[in-house]
Amino acid sequence: MEEFKHISVLLNETIELLDIKPDGIYVDGTAGGAGHSREIAKRLDPENGRLYALDRDPEAVKVAGERLAGLPAQVIHADFADMRAALKNVGVEKVQGVLLDLGVSSYQLDTARRGFSYHADAPLDMRMSSEGMSAKDLVNTWSYEDLRRILYDYGEEKFAPAIAKAIVAAREIKPIETTGELAELVKSSVPQRVRREKNPCKKTFQAVRIAVNDEMGQLDRALDEAFELLAPGGRLAIITFHSLEDRMVKRRFAEFCKGCTCPPEFPQCVCGKTPRAKAVTRKPVTAAEEELEHNNRSRSAKLRVVEKIK
Ligand SMILES: C[S@@+](CC[C@H](N)C(=O)[O-])C[C@H]1O[C@@H](n2cnc3c(N)ncnc32)[C@H](O)[C@@H]1O
Repeated sequence: MEEFKHISVLLNETIELLDIKPDGIYVDGTAGGAGHSREIAKRLDPENGRLYALDRDPEAVKVAGERLAGLPAQVIHADFADMRAALKNVGVEKVQGVLLDLGVSSYQLDTARRGFSYHADAPLDMRMSSEGMSAKDLVNTWSYEDLRRILYDYGEEKFAPAIAKAIVAAREIKPIETTGELAELVKSSVPQRVRREKNPCKKTFQAVRIAVNDEMGQLDRALDEAFELLAPGGRLAIITFHSLEDRMVKRRFAEFCKGCTCPPEFPQCVCGKTPRAKAVTRKPVTAAEEELEHNNRSRSAKLRVVEKIK
């Protein structure tokens, strides 16, 4: 296995806003290279505190296990959308904090054989878990409409129709097998001026990756799972990397904080539901200048935190 390199984003801010209690139980749903996990586990009392670090990627699970050795932590191979079941398996029903640092790690992106990158030619894979439908399956079987939809929705790619059309035409001649082949199809579908400005593949590769890993579905479920898992006073911290994710987190956090689910046109509340959380961050926390200078990935990072009341 290649060296696992990943610089954690918003590390100090996340640790501070999680307000870690040494005797608490914490969940890091996205262990990755264990950057955040280590900082959480180091603050826990070895007798009474404990961190459960989850990841769906077996390679991350292995590395996180090594990096957390000797700390009050346990690594679990699981999807964060199933965190309650994973925690129940180890006898935990309530926790004091949950962290999700979404998306893929730099290790996953930079390891060519994982098939995430348009910078290297490799089998088109993109599965974080190395199981289930791959990017190759997706581009060779999804309909034109579905391809166009994910390119628009998950990539905000304005040339979605042209790219989807090129994919469908190419696979009629032979299956699309590699990242290089997909990258060439994207390049040949966008106007020359776009090709000159910057790499035109970024949006398509992001869209396919989000679809392959059902990232929006996982986040949707994880928001409820994590909130249910929290004990009153517990905190949920989420770092997002694109507007779709951030919008989902912002809306759900607003619902937790508002409580009432009556339609806005009702003159007064009839549901009687009261706030279940309070906002710890009013606006999303973004990376400071110093972090932006040494970690490009931090550019799009947004951290939001809520605290459960009941
Ligand atoms: C941005 S990295 C986390 C990096 C980590 N915070 C660190 O400091 O090293 C995201 C990690 O979350 C994992 N991941 C993404 N979606 C997941 C999901 N639905 N369930 C479990 N793990 C997931 C990925 O495999 C990846 O290792």
